[in-house]
Amino acid sequence: MKRSSVKELLHSDKFLQEVHVKGWVRTFRSNRFIALNDGSTINNIQCVVDFENTEEELLKRITTSAAVSITGTLVESEGKGQSVEVKVTKLEILGDSNPDEYPIQPKKHSLEFLRENAHLRIRTNTFSAVMRVRSALSFGVHKYFQENGFNYVNTPIITGSDAEGAGEMFHVSNFETNKAPLNEEGDIDYTKDFFGKETNLTVSGQLEAETYAMALGKVYTFGYTFRAENSNTTRHLAEFWMIEPEVAFNDLDANMDLSEDFIKSVLGYVLENCKDDLEFLDNRLTQEEKSKPQAERSDMGLIEKLNFVAENNFKRVSYTEAFDILRNCKPNKKKKFQFPITEWGVDLQSEHERYLVEKHFKCPVILFDYPATIKAFYMRLNDDGKTVRAMDVLFPGIGEMVGGSQREERLDVLKSKMADLNIDEEELWWYLDTRKFGTAVHSGFGLGFERLVLFTTGMSNIRDVIPFPRTPQNAEF
Ligand code: 4AD
Ligand code: MG
Repeated sequence: MKRSSVKELLHSDKFLQEVHVKGWVRTFRSNRFIALNDGSTINNIQCVVDFENTEEELLKRITTSAAVSITGTLVESEGKGQSVEVKVTKLEILGDSNPDEYPIQPKKHSLEFLRENAHLRIRTNTFSAVMRVRSALSFGVHKYFQENGFNYVNTPIITGSDAEGAGEMFHVSNFETNKAPLNEEGDIDYTKDFFGKETNLTVSGQLEAETYAMALGKVYTFGYTFRAENSNTTRHLAEFWMIEPEVAFNDLDANMDLSEDFIKSVLGYVLENCKDDLEFLDNRLTQEEKSKPQAERSDMGLIEKLNFVAENNFKRVSYTEAFDILRNCKPNKKKKFQFPITEWGVDLQSEHERYLVEKHFKCPVILFDYPATIKAFYMRLNDDGKTVRAMDVLFPGIGEMVGGSQREERLDVLKSKMADLNIDEEELWWYLDTRKFGTAVHSGFGLGFERLVLFTTGMSNIRDVIPFPRTPQNAEF
């Protein structure tokens, strides 16, 4: 007999028909009521066991997280809280679960505890909701780009250049520890290593994506990204996913438009397609907010916040305007910032970004035209000679969601910036070629996928929105 998913059954009106379902027991009450979940939805289906006609041995094996196969009749439920239920006619235990050993009990566990059990935490409502939303978000990302004429490009994970300077890199080598051959100068001789040169895990696919944009026009990457920075924050992972669109002939304004339209579209997709999970996460967040001091509580629920972002314009502000706002704001004057805002040209810290979005503008903000000195070499220099066509999209509760720019398309300017920063032209010969052969204005950005999942699910730690997080001192599983 064909197996139905719990989701299908909950939406079915084929009453009195025989149905077949498999899943894991969430709870078993009064020796009668199984709450069964199979991951297809946040909701469980109630399966009612005829306990008088069921062997006691079998009843004992219906424990939380046991895998079961159920055949029964779909009926309208008499109880509260569900519209349909299954009257069990045949129950088979597929996999027992010893309740004394199973660590995830049907009670509230701390997120820290669940992180230590990342292989089982997905069996909780919170994590299954988060991961279903994550999956829908990825689909929304591909859907947006595919429907808008972008080509999906897979840029390499192992790279031979360290030029972008986006972050510390993880080294990739095939040498045995302590047995690497040395050259005449006594340094490790990477010409003898697997790739014949020093290699690292990528911090961004941008430079490669740019070469593809110069032929395919509109491209995007969506892949693994690695940063070996030792930052133990709730916003950083050592291994994360980044989405990087790159578009030929787009200037910075078009790049800002793209980032805004893209984010709104993806949020719209999950609002439409993840209603049950978002409602659950909305309630979860409301409960969590109650434990915070009044001043720190958000005045919007999760779904309300997602709708607000999807429907309202992001505020666009130049670095210089933002600098003035920050220099004159109360927390700066009262010396409340850890990093005081004094001189034009300082890099903005997350406390400043959050002040701008959460306190001042109260909406997502796109900051643009940053000082050249705090941004990467490839960003297009403005005519003022001091600022570059950079943009960061800042989100409430998150800070930086997107970093991007219009790229420096002028070969001479690019070369002179590289020289200033001691970036070896030979290492990036292929990147410079794009400026030699049919160079054109182009722009792109990178969006940290987990930060988007964080915002969309209302979770507060980035470790809780990726299945198996990689952070300093942590690579379990
Ligand atoms: O601002 P970033 O460093 O930009 C780049 O790498 C550019 N090459 C992107 C481009 O223009 N194509 O990183 C982009 C985004 C950040 O805004 C942030 O959302 C995310 O990547 N990100 C991280 N997410 C999780 N953990 C980390 N350690 C992250 N570092 C950056
Ligand atoms: Mg950045």
